[in-house]
Amino acid sequence: MKDEFGLPTYLDRDRFPIDEWALRETAFSADDQGKTETLFAVGNGYLGMRGNVEEGRESFSHGTFINGFHETWPIRHAEEAYGFARIGQTIVNAPDAKIMRLYVDDEPLLLPVADLPAYERVLDFRDGILTRTVDWRTPAGKHVRLKSSRMVSITERHLAIMTYEITLLDADAPVTVSSQILNRQDGSDEYHVRSAALGTRFDPRRAEHLHERVLLPQTQWEGDGRYVLGFTCQNSGMTLAVAADHTVETANEMEELGFVEEDLAKHVVRVRARKNQPIRITKVVSYHTSRGVPSRELVDRCRRTLDRVAHDGIETYVEAQRAWLADYWARCDVVLPEQPAAQQAVRWNLFQVAQASARAEGSGIPAKGVSGSGYSGHYFWDSEVYVLPFLTYTMPRAARNALRFRYTMLDAARRRAHELNQKGALFPWRTINGEEASAYYAAGTAQYHIDADIAYALCQYVAATGDVDFLAREAIDLLVETARLWRDLGFWRGNGAGTFHIHGVTGPDEYTTVVNDNLYTNVMARYNLRAAASAVRNLQENDPAAHRAMVKRLGLREEEIADWLRAADNLYIPFDERVGIHPQDAQFLEKEVWDLDGTPKDNRPLLLYYHPLVIYRFQVLKQADVVLALFLQGHEFTAEQKRADFDYYDPLTTGDSTLSGVVQSIVAAEVGYQELAVDYFGKSLYVDLADLHGNTSDGVHVASAGGIWSALVYGFGGMRDGNGVLSMDPRLPELWPGLTYRVTVKDTRVRVDLRQQDVTFTIETGERVTFDVRGEKVTVTAATPVTVPLEDQGPRIIGAPRTKDLEGTRRADGTLVTAKVPDVHDDALPIAVMRPETYD
Ligand code: BGC
Repeated sequence: MKDEFGLPTYLDRDRFPIDEWALRETAFSADDQGKTETLFAVGNGYLGMRGNVEEGRESFSHGTFINGFHETWPIRHAEEAYGFARIGQTIVNAPDAKIMRLYVDDEPLLLPVADLPAYERVLDFRDGILTRTVDWRTPAGKHVRLKSSRMVSITERHLAIMTYEITLLDADAPVTVSSQILNRQDGSDEYHVRSAALGTRFDPRRAEHLHERVLLPQTQWEGDGRYVLGFTCQNSGMTLAVAADHTVETANEMEELGFVEEDLAKHVVRVRARKNQPIRITKVVSYHTSRGVPSRELVDRCRRTLDRVAHDGIETYVEAQRAWLADYWARCDVVLPEQPAAQQAVRWNLFQVAQASARAEGSGIPAKGVSGSGYSGHYFWDSEVYVLPFLTYTMPRAARNALRFRYTMLDAARRRAHELNQKGALFPWRTINGEEASAYYAAGTAQYHIDADIAYALCQYVAATGDVDFLAREAIDLLVETARLWRDLGFWRGNGAGTFHIHGVTGPDEYTTVVNDNLYTNVMARYNLRAAASAVRNLQENDPAAHRAMVKRLGLREEEIADWLRAADNLYIPFDERVGIHPQDAQFLEKEVWDLDGTPKDNRPLLLYYHPLVIYRFQVLKQADVVLALFLQGHEFTAEQKRADFDYYDPLTTGDSTLSGVVQSIVAAEVGYQELAVDYFGKSLYVDLADLHGNTSDGVHVASAGGIWSALVYGFGGMRDGNGVLSMDPRLPELWPGLTYRVTVKDTRVRVDLRQQDVTFTIETGERVTFDVRGEKVTVTAATPVTVPLEDQGPRIIGAPRTKDLEGTRRADGTLVTAKVPDVHDDALPIAVMRPETYD
């Protein structure tokens, strides 16, 4: 079902009513708890708490995550080879401080079976606070009203604040609340409840389950309602301390008891509760972590945080958070006038990016943020290509942090390049600590394009912010070392006017691996080589001292630059005249086509049902590859090439990765497939809200959430910046009344109001900005908004390219491309069933 704007209506609006500034839930369900735990997670990029119910029992997976806080373990390859990743890295489930067990008349509140005349849970995007209001009719028939809140502070990144308020509405009763901090990583639940996450099937996208004890208890302490636990990770040596303060306010008679053990701290509040006399418990929690500082020191840091909050009062932090988010929305909000449902979903996605990155300082941005353990808490290229564009134009400080984090990993990347017989630096495909953690090199380490993705995001950041100081002092090293890698990895074919080739790499599409001359890689490597050359030249001209220091630091020789440029200018870009497209790689068109239309729906995603070799044998894509190059380096392709490439690849693209839809939407919009663009956008918008990939329970798909901004601003807004110039060629869908977004360019924030007939630029802060609108230079100053009339919203093509269009296409050698689906035997079982040992 679609709404009048062409967007899908997936959500049950009785249970999740539309609210433009919040996600609301009006009924509890144990059936989709994994999903809602993710959707209602709160976090600040450093600390994240899943939306587990306060009472701490029933859950899909209890989760508290600290960005970068991980355990290491030796990867045992069944068949070893030189250079394989050796050290696995897995995010740790940090001690759970969310728990507030409730007993009335000594009966526990168990949400799935409780009689709940009223229930509402709200995650408000303006204050970032998760609140829950529940009316509970106890088994003895008493009415209890519960109000609770949970906030992970954005302004104070080590802090979380929770409140829990109980009021008996029609009778007196003994009430007990057991507030806890529990190490769930190493123990089962206090009551040995097995979490649903442990019982589900194997899926390579989930985190490994560590069997050994991970958190070694170091410190336990309690006094005056304050509890402290300290731990060290067995292998990684990382340390953690968590501390909680409790304040109880009530007119009832009560007593407080405290217990602390190695893996558990408990503050028990026993109350003789009278009717209409509320009991309010405030729990203030602090987490500190480190790569190796003794946990005792972290305990002191926790104490300092708690003392400060005790002194200031929690309202100070609530207000600060409100102010922070007001500023956030002023910078980044994207408005879809008259579309409240989509508006809510857009804001939920943009809010997720803040929750994943705002205070990630010193760490990267994990693929799931801090909302779940999926992908083991690793950082991928997701940040650079899907999240950083948004941050660069709205929250540049966070973009800088993420780039600085890559800079701090440069030495590890140099070592990795050396290990793989290469000069320069090779960034790991997936990592937490800078070392490659991808055990499957074909779809991991072989994705050398991550080097160019980092260079791309860096140059985009510098062009948009003018932060040349960061480039001059540190980040230039990233450009030089990645350029060196490309120059060394590639090789010349032919003499004189030869071509430069890059063999044995994997592009973004993980259904086609270890190929020669992957188009995306070559186009991005060319960009990287040129960007490095021009950054070095600029530095030489504008900051000779910094240039001299860099040359000395990196031992850069003058001839290297000319060499990079020669390689870039001659980089081989595959093009097939007969089919009229850019092949994804040198051998791509040799393969037969996988008939996606003929593939049983039950066999998706393909990666769970077919051996990689079966998939690799066909023309079939997990995610946009050539099409991503068409977007990021659009100025390198003609409009006709873009149309032909899009037509060719779109029907072959499964979208089995959530990173695909947003890019397909952007390029569909550009070439003119307006309905299709809206379609891809709608599916990406609800990837998590409607759990379209069935694994939202493992955490938010942060790249897709960041990509929502890209789909709106680059896709429908038509903005481009690939060659350092900000241009705009809008593509507002016919059914949409308008689209408003903001971008900050060199400290000037401009609001762009796009409508069917025109686009208006208004400076909100700062002085002036220049755009190229369909070839016309438009300069906007603080004094007056500028409106540019639009004749249309670009070309219009009805429908979508179909696989059958490919049938009968001839290759360059004259052979016909055919389509088929590999047979699935009736006894073929998904990997889950065949490898039970991998999931428990
Ligand atoms: C995608 C990768 C991505 C990773 C983490 C995979 O499914 O194919 O491109 O980096 O997920 O989000």
